[in-house]
Amino acid sequence: MRLQFVCKAVTCILLFSVLLFISIVLLKIFSKNKRFNFIIASARSLSEIHANSGLTENKVKVGKKSEESTQYIINMATNVASGWNILKEELILPAGGALFSSCHASTIVQIEENNFLVAYFGGSREGAPDVKIWLQRYRDGCWHPPVVADEQDGVPMWNPVLFQLPSRELLLFYKIGQEVQKWSGAMKRSLDGGITWSQREQLPPGILGPIKNKPFLLEDGRLLCGSSVESWNSWGAWLEVTKDAGQTWRKYGPICIEGVPLGVIQPVPYQTANGTIRVLLRSFDTIGRVCMADSADEGVTWSYVRETELPNPNSGIDGVKMKDGRVLLAYNTFSRGTLKIAISSNDGDSWVEVMTLEDTNGMEFSYPAVIQTMDELIHVTYTYNRTQIKHVVLQPSGMVKF
Ligand SMILES: *[C@@H]1O[C@H](CO)[C@@H](O)[C@H](O)[C@H]1NC(C)=O
Ligand SMILES: *[C@@H]1O[C@H](CO)[C@@H](O)[C@H](O)[C@H]1NC(C)=O
Repeated sequence: MRLQFVCKAVTCILLFSVLLFISIVLLKIFSKNKRFNFIIASARSLSEIHANSGLTENKVKVGKKSEESTQYIINMATNVASGWNILKEELILPAGGALFSSCHASTIVQIEENNFLVAYFGGSREGAPDVKIWLQRYRDGCWHPPVVADEQDGVPMWNPVLFQLPSRELLLFYKIGQEVQKWSGAMKRSLDGGITWSQREQLPPGILGPIKNKPFLLEDGRLLCGSSVESWNSWGAWLEVTKDAGQTWRKYGPICIEGVPLGVIQPVPYQTANGTIRVLLRSFDTIGRVCMADSADEGVTWSYVRETELPNPNSGIDGVKMKDGRVLLAYNTFSRGTLKIAISSNDGDSWVEVMTLEDTNGMEFSYPAVIQTMDELIHVTYTYNRTQIKHVVLQPSGMVKF
């Protein structure tokens, strides 16, 4: 009887101890994680991280890498009038690690939460034979060093465009050729979120792929790629459509200004509320405005191009149709030294300026690429004076603040 009682008591105590031990371990893990996230988010100094956190060696290394490779510019600017916020601004290339002296034409894609890929071209200068396509990943709270996505001995590469299909297949389009008038379209694919890539595929003759801006995916799976041609005294846009992720192509256009040979390039395609396919376009200096064209039959036939109210100094633009139905556009105004954000609540018929991202005479902030992420924030990358790529995160007006 007595022995039985003692046995029960010991079992109880043991069970209680085990439960207590498990709770303590769980509590520790949770508090560690919380602290880790906070540290990465606020980008505090490494010594502070080291002193306070009790991080594992591995995690500290990630923090250190981010500190060395990324020049943080903390800027929580709010545009009071529009209600738009800048949540984050950073340059993505390692400071001082000069793999190339010039880079341009970035593109950004979200692979999954907190996992982004950016591509751009870089070399000694735009159009030099050593210009390659580079890729950089954002993961574990920092931008990792650039890696070569593709190169061709003695021939420059141009304007990469990244896009992820709903199947999660990742497409990387780009151009290869001695000059813009002679370039050909090429692409690579990745089935593992950009870790490994297929061999280069050459696009069919006359198909260049999305020329600067991301494609627009229709509900039926057709990918609408805004393309364009810049040849002698002849600028115009086309819509290139693939229903099988780049295996076969159709091409519709030209999308042009009636009677104007040097017109529009680099379309931004999207769908308006009533199903019209619309493109916004960069225009030649003599036009000087962001232009627009419509198709009522899913991109097959096109209206002539007309001007919008937004200025354009013959410089790349990019936009996105947001989940709430508004259209956002990033654009230069009177030179590449000023980069702004405008919003349209009627699919591009009229625009309201909501934010100035850059405004410095004599510098170049150009070729924006814009996406809306799963958390509905806006991510913009753009050329920073040809020596860096800048990444900016915006919180749209009307979003719940956090
Ligand atoms: C559809 O919307 C566009 C603008 O988004 C407009 O220009 C066009 O007239 C509309 N079409 C019809 C049939 O209502
Ligand atoms: C920006 O680029 C221009 C042209 O290369 C150069 O003259 C200028 O010094 C650069 N500005 C900065 C701040 O890097």
